[in-house]
Amino acid sequence: MTDTPELELTIEDLDSIAGFEGEVAIFVSVEGGLDRAGRRVNRLTKGAIERAVASSKFQKAKAGDVLKLSYPTGMAADAVSIVKLDKRVDAELARTAGASVSKALGGRPLLALCGSRRDPNEIALGLLLGAYNFSAHKTGDGDDGGVGQITVAHSKPEENQDKVESSKAVAEGVYFTRDLVNEPSNVLTTVNFADRLKALSKVGLKVSVLEEDQLEKLGMRALLGVGQGSRSPSKVVVMEWNGGGDEPPLALVGKGVVFDTGGISLKPAGGMEDMTMDMGGAGVVSGVMKTLAHRKAPANVIGLVGLVENMPDGAAQRPGDVVRTMKGDTVEVINTDAEGRLVLCDVMWHAQEKYKPAAMIDLATLTGAVVIALGHHNAGVFSNDDALANAFLRAAGSEGEGAWRMPLGDDYAKQLKSRVADLKNVGGRPGGSVTAAEFLHRFVQDETPWIHLDIAGVTLRSSATSYAPKGASGWGVMSLNRLIADKFEVGE
Ligand code: BES
Ligand code: MN
Ligand code: ZN
Repeated sequence: MTDTPELELTIEDLDSIAGFEGEVAIFVSVEGGLDRAGRRVNRLTKGAIERAVASSKFQKAKAGDVLKLSYPTGMAADAVSIVKLDKRVDAELARTAGASVSKALGGRPLLALCGSRRDPNEIALGLLLGAYNFSAHKTGDGDDGGVGQITVAHSKPEENQDKVESSKAVAEGVYFTRDLVNEPSNVLTTVNFADRLKALSKVGLKVSVLEEDQLEKLGMRALLGVGQGSRSPSKVVVMEWNGGGDEPPLALVGKGVVFDTGGISLKPAGGMEDMTMDMGGAGVVSGVMKTLAHRKAPANVIGLVGLVENMPDGAAQRPGDVVRTMKGDTVEVINTDAEGRLVLCDVMWHAQEKYKPAAMIDLATLTGAVVIALGHHNAGVFSNDDALANAFLRAAGSEGEGAWRMPLGDDYAKQLKSRVADLKNVGGRPGGSVTAAEFLHRFVQDETPWIHLDIAGVTLRSSATSYAPKGASGWGVMSLNRLIADKFEVGE
């Protein structure tokens, strides 16, 4: 597990700057204006900050960029990071700037001098997110990333304490999601995944695990069919956060295919290793639940994840097999590689039957087609409810996580007609992400406002993004946490 760095908010004390060992960050306006801390560091370094700010390097830098001075005279610090950032910027830019500072820290403590900025919580979140480094399987002491203790200094710490605590809770969730997604599938088996979720009971979540015999009794034959070729048993894990009194809950449902070979409809070898991330939906659901518990959200949210492995085997499901879903509809499995929808349909049905949610959001690395449609910068948003969809799009926009509305429609649903069963699990290549969404739509009960998020393109990134190194992005934890704060919390 990658530990979230320790972060403390303290009162800014100019006299402690000179002796601080580690790295010191100051914020300088785009025009080159220094705040009190900046002026103190400038005096200590005999004008080095003013010279740096006058340089063409600083002039050419973009807002949010960092200029680093190493081993400054007059200070115990190893480096001063000069962050080019105005006092009033949007949250996304403040976080990006924070992440740029912590990306290159290499295990040293950091003192971020935020003065009277209005957004020390956003800077703090960026510092935490940018410091993430998945090194669980690197031997040796490799110093590539990681941070020591982070101190965020501010003129009025007490006024910002709660918001900084929320930032820490968000970072806990994002780290958890990223770790789950980055973990290889020989480590993160269904059993190991369920164990990690059970451990969340320590932070106050109620966690229960449905084993294969119970799933059989519930009638989840579609889900069980996907896992029947694997040595790892299929499981559904339910995480409950009850902070919202008697309100009906929000249900979050995640696809947790710990590895997707395609099954008997085997995928080609090239790039198959990326299918360790096919539990990304379950990873986001788990991360959000952890965040809600850490910040003790006044909301009722149930997270349900379907954990299976899609393997070819003598016992594996075949193309042409017909399975019966928990709802009762039968499905002809044309392609065993369209397995995510078979997992989700049963977990979604169970979520609605058992918990009567006020709304339901499912997340899944569901289709390659959504990557063709939207690339890696936006997740596909499919919904039967404009108000809920718009609230989500607003939340994603304010958190800087790309999300784009996609259509639904009966004409797409017709592509799923089967000769032998009630429907088939693929609808052909045209509109592949939409027919997948329509498959799920069939398992949404009429009154339930629902969003399906196809996160196949945004879950794993081949290059670093502003808040994350390459690999798992943690996309969605912040947007869903924001949506819950905006729309699903009970008034105090
Ligand atoms: N897990 C994949 C989708 C995927 C593709 C996720 C690329 C991340 C990156 C899913 O189970 C799958 O195999 N979908 C098939 C569906 C097809 C057989 C209808 C696909 O997209 O090719
Ligand atoms: Mn597949
Ligand atoms: Zn899959």
